[in-house]
Amino acid sequence: MSHILHRQTSHHYPAAASAAGIVIRDGTGKEYIDASSGAAVSCLGHSHPDVLAAMRAQLDRLAYAHTSFFTTQVAEELADDLVGHAPAGIGHVFFVSGGSEAIEAALKLARAYFVERGEPQRRYIIARRQSYHGITLGALAVGGREQARAAFVPLLIEAHHVSPAYEYRDRRADERPRDYAERLAQELEAKLHELGGDNVIAFVAETVVGATLGAVPAVGGYFKRVRDICDRHGVLLILDEVMCGMGRTGTLHACEQEGISPDLMAIAKGLGGGYAPIGALLMQERIFDAVAAGSGAFQHSHTYMGHPLACAAALAVQQVIRRDGLLANVQAHGAYLSRRLKERFGNHPFVGDVRGRGLFQGLELVADRASKQPFDPKMQLHARVKRAAMARGLMVYPSAGAADGTSGDNVLLAPPFIVDAAAVDAIVERLGDAIDAATVERTGSRMQEA
Ligand SMILES: Cc1ncc(COP(=O)(O)O)c(C=O)c1O
Repeated sequence: MSHILHRQTSHHYPAAASAAGIVIRDGTGKEYIDASSGAAVSCLGHSHPDVLAAMRAQLDRLAYAHTSFFTTQVAEELADDLVGHAPAGIGHVFFVSGGSEAIEAALKLARAYFVERGEPQRRYIIARRQSYHGITLGALAVGGREQARAAFVPLLIEAHHVSPAYEYRDRRADERPRDYAERLAQELEAKLHELGGDNVIAFVAETVVGATLGAVPAVGGYFKRVRDICDRHGVLLILDEVMCGMGRTGTLHACEQEGISPDLMAIAKGLGGGYAPIGALLMQERIFDAVAAGSGAFQHSHTYMGHPLACAAALAVQQVIRRDGLLANVQAHGAYLSRRLKERFGNHPFVGDVRGRGLFQGLELVADRASKQPFDPKMQLHARVKRAAMARGLMVYPSAGAADGTSGDNVLLAPPFIVDAAAVDAIVERLGDAIDAATVERTGSRMQEA
């Protein structure tokens, strides 16, 4: 019997015993293709020799030094590296140990910025429904994943939500994409007027929505309008690129493809590629300047922030991505993955949509393609697909909540950046079998339902 409180108390988890490249092996020797990089984490795959060597060398030098006493060379080098490749205006970095911590830091630094500037009345955060920003209380409050929030609502800070940019379900048939983007922009504008623009701290959004919607990029022009609106009201734009960032969509930062630069940006997951827990908050220089010229301190710290081993891992991961030209591979094999998914699932009776960017692709599962009606959430179809995929030696990342925060199943694919065409073919084939098996199981006969 395990003494760990696992994610699901009734589920038996195989023990991961070893891993190399895009494959994880369990204790019985069974192999799984890691087609989701865990949760969009293992961007270089597993056991990358150059990352391991950098981590070993760091351990031999220094494993840990508390940040209230010291900085370290490796943390400084990683900060230089991140700022050197950051969106326009980003000048400083705050290190943390994961995505939720990066979002917490973003919310608090955004508030601290306005306190430093003498605008303490700013107290509201606006975010979007069907989003996921992490599991700690602040991140959960701004997130829009209803089933994760429900039990904790009495503990959450006040947060306001507007619609996600979710073309598949929300763009009206008679609406052009740009009109839909405008409608969403007007909704944000209206929310700002309702709250009073100068009472609002920030608008928070995933640049490409990950787990809740399943790799959904915004409709064209949306983020430019959001950037303009935030600027007009003096509201900070916080982009959450914890999942979609650090190369996953084919550019280092997903926002590069939107032509905008955020005020604050949370990164994690692919930053350290799973070799060590690390996240970071990137900030515009004017935000750093406000703190430096004001109180001189951001009242927010963690014991393990800037951990040298994590920084060494992240620095090595970023250097390997550049040295090996892996963003080009993300673009090329992302396009190939998208094509293969569309070929396999384009006419599938229970796949309503295939979408994504780069090696960040999602399928939305629907009970009826014409009406886009989701499966009954009680069916837990996402969990069934995951089980069926694992049985076939495939790791994918299905979740629920796409349609309304609770119902609507999607399957997220986010293979490592080193994936090749043969691996993409194997992933699509196994996923097809898994979805067929899971839907047959649910509906009695898939063909009969179709
Ligand atoms: C977009 C996004 N933000 C934040 C988080 C939280 O990150 P973590 O699980 O590292 O705390 C996640 C995790 O999946 C995420 O996908």
